[in-house]
Order: sequence, then structure tokens, then C-alpha cells
Amino acid sequence: MTGVKYSEERVEIISVKEGSNNIISCVVRSELIATTSLPGQFVTVQVNNRGAGCIPVLRRPFAISNVKKDRFEFIFDVVGRGTELLKKVLKEEKCLNILGPLGNGFDLKSEKKQKLLIAGGIGIAPVKRLVQYFSTTDCRTTLIWGNRNKSGFFDTDYFIDQNIKLLICTDDGSMGFEGNVVDLLESEIKNKNLNSMSDYDIFVVGPDPMMKAVCVSVGKRNTVCQVSLETPMACGMGVCQGCAVKKKNEEGYYLVCKDGPVFYSDKIIMN
Ligand SMILES: Cc1cc2nc3c(=O)[nH]c(=O)nc-3n(C[C@H](O)[C@H](O)[C@H](O)COP(=O)(O)OP(=O)(O)OC[C@H]3O[C@@H](n4cnc5c(N)ncnc54)[C@H](O)[C@@H]3O)c2cc1C
Ligand code: FES
Repeated sequence: MTGVKYSEERVEIISVKEGSNNIISCVVRSELIATTSLPGQFVTVQVNNRGAGCIPVLRRPFAISNVKKDRFEFIFDVVGRGTELLKKVLKEEKCLNILGPLGNGFDLKSEKKQKLLIAGGIGIAPVKRLVQYFSTTDCRTTLIWGNRNKSGFFDTDYFIDQNIKLLICTDDGSMGFEGNVVDLLESEIKNKNLNSMSDYDIFVVGPDPMMKAVCVSVGKRNTVCQVSLETPMACGMGVCQGCAVKKKNEEGYYLVCKDGPVFYSDKIIMN
């Protein structure tokens, strides 16, 4: 699961697309990240345009989404000071300072041919990279993507064009199945649209309560998932110890930035 060594780069901003609901997709040029990163790895981005040391000092972590030739995409939700500033910087600047690829990606060694991907909201960002990866294999991929309402979806055409089964749900029923991803998962299992959970490799990314609920549902069927944690980070490189997550059934902690962000659900205690 371990990737190659990271580097700090000043990368050219190729395109910026703003979707509904303050979601931004940015494509930048970085041959190193596009060609060496693994699905599930992330970058940290300097969100101010006045150089290191300026407020906010800390870089912000984002999943590496689609990769193409010497370019990669990251997708983010504007939720606070750092992402507000990044949105402004993307409008004003031609380059960004990026560090990566960081962390360990998903475990893709399994020989199971069925993949179940479950994304909540902006959790679709790393999942998009997984969809891209599995579309180059002979695996059969099902993607369940949930949002509070229809405005949370973006770039759905991309997923429709892939050779996958796409199942959409919204809490308010404004698009797709009415209910959350666990409701949809349970419904698909009950209606026998999905096989036994143990037939699938299962990957889950989204808010912690959603990932926890999926793991409970899948756990009842004696199956584990790979979850990608989005614990707030300071250094992103295993130095500050600020992103610890408790190990399950043993003493101690993992560092999400260095040991993760992807973990098997039976190895950690999720918040
Ligand atoms: C490995 C990793 C990959 C990530 N990938 C993505 C991605 O692809 N796209 C994306 O939109 N976001 C992603 N995130 C989350 C993203 O880094 C944060 O949303 C961002 O740093 C917030 O910065 P801010 O300054 O705008 O918000 P802040 O001002 O720091 O916080 C604003 C609000 O957001 C909450 N918040 C901040 N950080 C997080 C977090 N990590 N998780 C949940 N809530 C948070 C705060 O509690 C607060 O309520 C990822 C995080 C990690 C650790
Ligand atoms: S963020 Fe510093 S150790 Fe993980």
C-alpha cells in the first residue's frame, strides 16, 4: 500500500470548475503525482498565496482524485477559512504549492472481482480515483453515492459514462433513492440486487458517522470495509502526532497521515 516518496512542487493550475453547493474541482499539472500516486493517497495544499509562514500557516489535505497523463484533479468542499482562501487563490493565481503524494492508498491486492464503493458527499473525491482504477480491470463495480439533497452531486456524467453500476440516494428524496447510503445498501441487499457482502471488496469514504454506520451494517454480515479517514491534520507527514486514531483490540494509536488515511474497519476505533 505504500507509495513513493513525496515531493513539494509548484504546480500549474490547468482548470478550475465550480459546481453547485460550493464544490470546486481543480486540475493541476504534476507528472510525479499523476504517474506515481496510488488510489487513496492525498496531497496537502498551501492555501495562501503569499508563501510559507503566512496565515493560515497549515496546508490543507485533499484526496488525489482523477489522474490523466501529467495531470491530476482534486475536488473540495468550501467549508471554512482555508478552503475559502484556496477558492480565491485558484481565481487569482497560475500556480499552487502542493506536497505529495502522501499516506497509504487503498489495499488493491484482493482477487475478488466484485467491488462495492460507498461515498457520502465529498467522499466521492478519492472514490472517483478508485472508479477510474477499477474501470481498467475486469472487475464489476457498484458505486453507492449519497448526499443530503440533489445539489450535492456534481460530475455525475463522468460516473454514468464509466462501466459501473451507479446507485444514488438523497436524504430528502430529491434525487435517486430516498434515504441515506445505509438505507440504500440495506434495501439493495434485501431486494437481492447485491450478492452476499463477503463477495465484495468494500471501500467507504464520507463523514465519520456515515462510515461507522456502513461498517456496522457490513459487520453484521461478517465482512470488513476499507475506510478512508479525513481526520483534521497539521503536518500531514507523521511529525506532530495530531491525527492519531485508536487501534482496535490492541494498545496504541495509528497516525492517519502516515499509517492511513485508509484502514480496515476492524483495525481502528472510529469516532
Ligand atoms: C486525508 C484527507 C483527505 C481529504 N480529502 C478531502 C477532499 O478530497 N475534499 C474535501 O473537500 N475535503 C477533504 N478533506 C477535508 C479537508 O481537508 C478539510 O475540509 C479542510 O482542511 C478544511 O479546511 P478549512 O480551513 O476550510 O476549514 P476549517 O476552518 O479548518 O474548518 C471548517 C469546518 O470544517 C470542519 N473540518 C475541518 N477539517 C475537517 C476534516 N478533515 N473533516 C471533517 N471536518 C473538517 C471543522 O470542524 C469546521 O467545522 C480531507 C482530509 C484529509 C485528512
Ligand atoms: S498530521 Fe501530523 S502526525 Fe499526522
